[in-house]
Order: sequence, then C-alpha cells, then structure tokens
Amino acid sequence: MRQKIVAANWKMNTHYMSGIKLLSEIVPMIGDEVTADVKVIIAPPFIHLYSASQLMNGNRKVFLGAQNCFYEEKGPYTGEISAAMLASVGVKYVIVGHSERRKFFNEDDAIISKKILQVLEHNMQGIYCCGETLEQREARKHKEIVAKQIETALFGLSKERVQKIIIAYEPVWAIGTGVNATPEQAQEMHAYIRSLIEKKFGENISKEISIIYGGSVTPNNAKSLFSCPDVDGGLVGGASLIARDFVSIVKAAG
Ligand code: 13P
Repeated sequence: MRQKIVAANWKMNTHYMSGIKLLSEIVPMIGDEVTADVKVIIAPPFIHLYSASQLMNGNRKVFLGAQNCFYEEKGPYTGEISAAMLASVGVKYVIVGHSERRKFFNEDDAIISKKILQVLEHNMQGIYCCGETLEQREARKHKEIVAKQIETALFGLSKERVQKIIIAYEPVWAIGTGVNATPEQAQEMHAYIRSLIEKKFGENISKEISIIYGGSVTPNNAKSLFSCPDVDGGLVGGASLIARDFVSIVKAAG
C-alpha cells in the first residue's frame, strides 16, 4: 500500500513566536490523536525551520518540509536558500513547482527541474506541484497541461529517483478560493497522472508513488477527497494554520 501523506504549506504566514506556538499545538495532537499510518509533513516559513526540526526531532509521524529552494549549490545568489542549507537543519521534504512560485517568481519547468535535482542530490524528497488554471480547464486543456508539467519535471529522472517524489495535484483555481475540486475531478486527474507515471516508469512505481491533492482542502471536504482511490492525501494551505482543522484533515486521511 502506498503511503498516505498530509502536508501543511504555511506559505508566508506566522511570525516567529506564533509559528512555534502553532507547531507546539499541532505536533502533540498528531501524536495523541492520529493512530493511522499517515505521514505528516509541515512546511513552515524558513525562519522556523531550525526550531521546528528540534521540536520534531525523532518524531515518527511528523516531518519537516520547506517551501522552496534555489537550484544552484551555493554562491552569489542574494536572498536565496540552497538545498544543502535546508538539509543541514533537518528538512526532509521540499515543495517544488508551486503555482504561486510559477506565477509570482516566473518559475518555469526548466527551473523547476533543476530545483528537483538539487533536492534529490541532498537526499531530501520533492513534493512536486502541478495543476491547471481555470482558463485551461475551461478550454478542456487541463490534462494536456498537467501531462506537460509532469513530463518536463519528472520524466528525466531515473526510476530510483522518481520514487523520491510526491506529486501534488493543485488546480490553480482551487487554491485559496474556497472552491475545491470535486472528488470526481480530483480522482480523474490523479488517475491520469498515475497512468502517465505507469507508461514512463512502469506499474510498480506508479502504484507506489503518492499523489496528493491540494486546493481548499478543509475538515469538511477532506474525507470525500481522500476516499478517492488515487488520492493519497492532501497538501493543505489555509486550513493548516488552524491546529484543530489541520489535525482533523490528517485524521481524514487515515
Ligand atoms: P489552500 O489550502 O489555502 O487552498 O492552499 C493550497 C495550497 O496551495 C497548498 O500548497
């Protein structure tokens, strides 16, 4: 059985003290209340990473993620953060290719592919985000767009390396809008993504790779989304900032 995963993407929210407070609420609640085999990843802003890794140290359910990294190893890149730096504070997962990075920072598939390589090079796992805009869906191009994103970012990887990737399908129109994909829409796309992985990397890998859904996941809709056969959990933005809501979503994946 492939791994169920629920990841929190805090985006650019919290300050130092409020972030640590939120983390100190979430981590014990997961330990006390979540009995199922769900892997929880929390990707807070960079300022929290070191303290968060100490707080989570040795935790078997909750792991540390980062929201981004640069694609060069090191050097004169003012303001950027390297994969090596993230690994050095205990980060295990890095979100790459988020639509907000594509939109506000002009990240294209070539940049994203280089970032994935850096993440893997430093023995972390990538959470690779893909997903279409509303216009693309309305033009019935959503599958074509997602296929291109998957092919460009992942098809150059070896079989061994692609197994270190978690795919997050995040339709852009569902992110932060309160309009989630329906379970049918999510299932259709997840099954399609899995079929692309199967064609390229074979059945075993396609069966094992976790494909999680992101876009307005809440405690109310999580169960119906996560019950779809090809939806292996979620990537949660807004609702991950409220400890009780996030823990409910984690439980819905169990
Ligand atoms: P929301 O859950 O706020 O819609 O954000 C989803 C997301 O972008 C997670 O990466």
